[in-house]
Amino acid sequence: MKYLIASSILVIIVILCFLFYPFELFSHENISYDDEQKGLSEQITIRFSHVVAENTPKGLAAQKFAQLASEKTDGLVNVEVVPNGTLFTDEEELDALMKNDVQMIAPSVSKMTKLALEWGLFDLPFLFQTNEDVTAVFTSEIGQNFLKLHEDENIKGMALWSNGLKQMTSSVKALKKPEDFIGQRFRIMPSDIIAEQFRRLEAVPIPLPFDQVYVSLEANRFEGQENTISNIYSRRLYELQNYMTISNHGFLGYVVLMNKEFWNSLPKDVQTSLTEAMEEATTWMINESMKMNKQQLKVIDKDSSIQIHYLTNEEREAWLNKLMPVYQTLYNQVNEKFVKDFIEQRRKQLETQ
Ligand code: LMR
Repeated sequence: MKYLIASSILVIIVILCFLFYPFELFSHENISYDDEQKGLSEQITIRFSHVVAENTPKGLAAQKFAQLASEKTDGLVNVEVVPNGTLFTDEEELDALMKNDVQMIAPSVSKMTKLALEWGLFDLPFLFQTNEDVTAVFTSEIGQNFLKLHEDENIKGMALWSNGLKQMTSSVKALKKPEDFIGQRFRIMPSDIIAEQFRRLEAVPIPLPFDQVYVSLEANRFEGQENTISNIYSRRLYELQNYMTISNHGFLGYVVLMNKEFWNSLPKDVQTSLTEAMEEATTWMINESMKMNKQQLKVIDKDSSIQIHYLTNEEREAWLNKLMPVYQTLYNQVNEKFVKDFIEQRRKQLETQ
């Protein structure tokens, strides 16, 4: 009997222990974090996707921004830069940004023409002559107006970045006179204003995303293309082309964009730090892209068999005569007065040069 009572008491004790034991101490939610882990859970992560290589002006500027953003917020903001279009390609990134599938992108201004024709301004031939011209426009009211163009589409413009002036390449012949373009197919970025320029030269424009340029050139889907030296170099396009003309005929710029709702959700002090980080990265990039384009042209010249021709003033004049009507095309298409005024002003300058 004694034995029965003792074992019943034991069973009751075991049941009570089971019911009231603080098992939550062992649950995952309550594992205590050290300081570093706690910091991680509070971090603000911004994914910044772009389509070029890491060692290009845009790739490096994105990393510079990430570093400055982290420094200025004491590690609170973590900008994850994803290069080479591995997250989203040229064709996908704008939609992804609007849906907040990615928080930051930096498409070329030419690719922005699918949202607003006004961006075609930057595709006009011989719009800029020097990098100083670019800086003057980017830091003026015009630049600021461009940044505000897509606020209604949940897009905040953060900055305009410059990759410098574009050069022409071909596998068929040296591009000196307008006639040299006749019948050749050229890969272009998707922009009606760029396409019209090649049609005026009696060439065939082929719009194609950047990630497909090398393989398509290898497969002879076109004979030539235009780009900045840093893109020609980093994608090794010069290996597949026999001729390059340093023409400085066009411009390649980017607009750095952030999902607007995401931006609005950030604390004010974080917004201030990110604005400062972006200003510093922008200044850094202008100098860096100038340096890289110069240095890499030297390397291409030294290490490859591509023939390099520098467009003469006379040749430039002949290209300009063929291409000038494009100014009128864009003028007729756009609504924003600030863009129309700028087109008129630049057209007059070019006509009197
Ligand atoms: C291109 O498509 O050639 C460029 O826009 C790539 C880039 O982003 O520099």
